[in-house]
Amino acid sequence: MDPSSTEREFGRILEESLNEIFIFDAVTLQFLQVNRGGRENLGMTIQELRELTPVDIKPHMTRESFEALIQPLRNGSQETLVFDTLHRRKNGSDYEVEVHLQLASFHDLPAFVATILDTTKRNQVANDLRVRNRAIESVGVGVVISDASQHDMPIIYCNHAFERITGYGTQEVIGRNCRFLQQDDRDQEARHTIRETLHSGEECRVLLRNYRKDGQLFWNDLLISPVKNSAGVVTHYVGLCNDLTQRIRAEVEKSDRETRLQAILNTAVEAIITIDEWGVCESLNPAAETMFGYSVKEVIGQNISMLMPSPYREEHDQYLQNYLRTGEKKIIGIGREVVGRRKSGEEFPMELSVSEVRLKETRLFTGMVRDVTELKHAQQQLIQAERLTALGEATARLAHESRNSLQRIQIAVETARLHCDEHQLLVDQLNSIENASDRLHALHEEVRNYAAPLNLEFEETTLAKVWRSAWSATQHLRQGRQVHLIEQIPTDQIYCRVDRFRFEQVFRNLFENALVACSDPVEIAISVTETHTPLGDKWRLSIQDNGVGLDEQQRRRVFEPFFTTKAKGTGLGMAIAQRIVEAHGGTISVGSGFLGSGQRNGAEFIIEISR
Ligand SMILES: Cc1cc2nc3c(=O)[nH]c(=O)nc-3n(C[C@H](O)[C@H](O)[C@H](O)COP(=O)(O)O)c2cc1C
Repeated sequence: MDPSSTEREFGRILEESLNEIFIFDAVTLQFLQVNRGGRENLGMTIQELRELTPVDIKPHMTRESFEALIQPLRNGSQETLVFDTLHRRKNGSDYEVEVHLQLASFHDLPAFVATILDTTKRNQVANDLRVRNRAIESVGVGVVISDASQHDMPIIYCNHAFERITGYGTQEVIGRNCRFLQQDDRDQEARHTIRETLHSGEECRVLLRNYRKDGQLFWNDLLISPVKNSAGVVTHYVGLCNDLTQRIRAEVEKSDRETRLQAILNTAVEAIITIDEWGVCESLNPAAETMFGYSVKEVIGQNISMLMPSPYREEHDQYLQNYLRTGEKKIIGIGREVVGRRKSGEEFPMELSVSEVRLKETRLFTGMVRDVTELKHAQQQLIQAERLTALGEATARLAHESRNSLQRIQIAVETARLHCDEHQLLVDQLNSIENASDRLHALHEEVRNYAAPLNLEFEETTLAKVWRSAWSATQHLRQGRQVHLIEQIPTDQIYCRVDRFRFEQVFRNLFENALVACSDPVEIAISVTETHTPLGDKWRLSIQDNGVGLDEQQRRRVFEPFFTTKAKGTGLGMAIAQRIVEAHGGTISVGSGFLGSGQRNGAEFIIEISR
């Protein structure tokens, strides 16, 4: 081939090269030749460039600094020089370049040949990588990468968060399989999930028990994902570790707190109900179910007004809305007595206190309800008892005051009798005055007995002894009659601390009533059993006769003072008996009066008293 045509061909290749090629005079530094790549990137013609030197297109360089840079080429201490710099285009924009510079000759004159690589893109990629690296280093999640192409997938990288979570430094983990974080706690279901996933080359998320370098347990919420090359082959796995220890601990504590709260709600004696702003029930505890007779299911989601009688039922929604609008409180934070309505329709007095709980988005109202039916009843009984005490005191005074008058009547009757001789009409009148005053006297004694304070003298005795003594005292009433006392007792040793004389009076009253109520043959049965209650062990006595028994009204009123069914009698006997038993801390009540067979068998009274 002709040497000049080879030169031309070579010149053409250089002209077309993608690299930029600059040739400049070694003395003047002026450009002699610039290929198309160089011209186009700078946006200048060859004529324009021939007026310039490399210093003119390098914004950060001066002639001096450039000369100093190329000095090693000039003095032959270096054959090529490689450096990074900036080139400025005609339009003023800059681009990064890598310059390869050599001293050569051009048309037999010394010249520099520069091959320029536009590194803008390359630098951008490197920069991107740096940013990504820094991002991975600064995230809070632990990142670990293991090499899938090596045996047992050793760790090749871990970030700062992984070091912080595990307590191990990078150098301690590189080259190891991640399983060392499990220590001896290897029996974990999640391990098998990971193995299956790694086998299939897929992704998985598991919760593992891992251990820090100091041996402390932490819950690792781990996401493992495969990294594939362009051929789709898994080359690496990346693991993202999230330390869930605190969250799991907080959840456990929250659930513990909820369990404790639930236990309190479940065992509370008071009914506790929560409603939302629209009055719809959100929860109620077992005490509320018992109190209102509804099950949880029947109330949740329903309006609370179902637990109220009219007119509150109809007014409640309005009341709640008024409060929400105006903030004016009628019950909330105050509490008061209102009326509740059970499922059965029964209305009852209840003490209600409502507190408001403000949540982020909404608010709840918690109502605590106490059924005060019993309390009211007790209060009424107290008022009645106070009234009776006052009445008793007045009666006692009356009895005392009229006693003298009674005695004077009796003396006057005796004296008159001495002077009336055989005057039959007068004798009859005096007899009936005497009878009337005797009855009045007996009545006085009983009223005094009832009204006087009970000063008890306790002693240890057996109850059998007490009722047998009372039985003897009714001897005069039993004379000529067919009467049996039947004792059904486990033992004679029914020990008890009582005022013997007062308790005898209780039995005497019961026996006397039975003897009046029953016709012959009379059977009075006493049975005693032991009972065990949370308040202590008790004796339970049943005294039952075989008379006609008590009707409904009698059962209800038998302990009322002055209530009587007998032709004679003050109606104070049973009231006195009750007063005595209660003063001993016991109770007396009317029993069912049924025998085991279900057959009605006269009146029955039950006495319960502590052993
Ligand atoms: C990228 C990657 C990260 C992993 N990170 C953990 C980790 O943080 N804690 C851990 O107990 N196991 C981790 N493992 C799982 C174990 O390395 C191992 O695969 C697993 O224990 C099942 O294998 P083995 O039964 O042979 O131990 C990781 C696995 C891979 C591939």
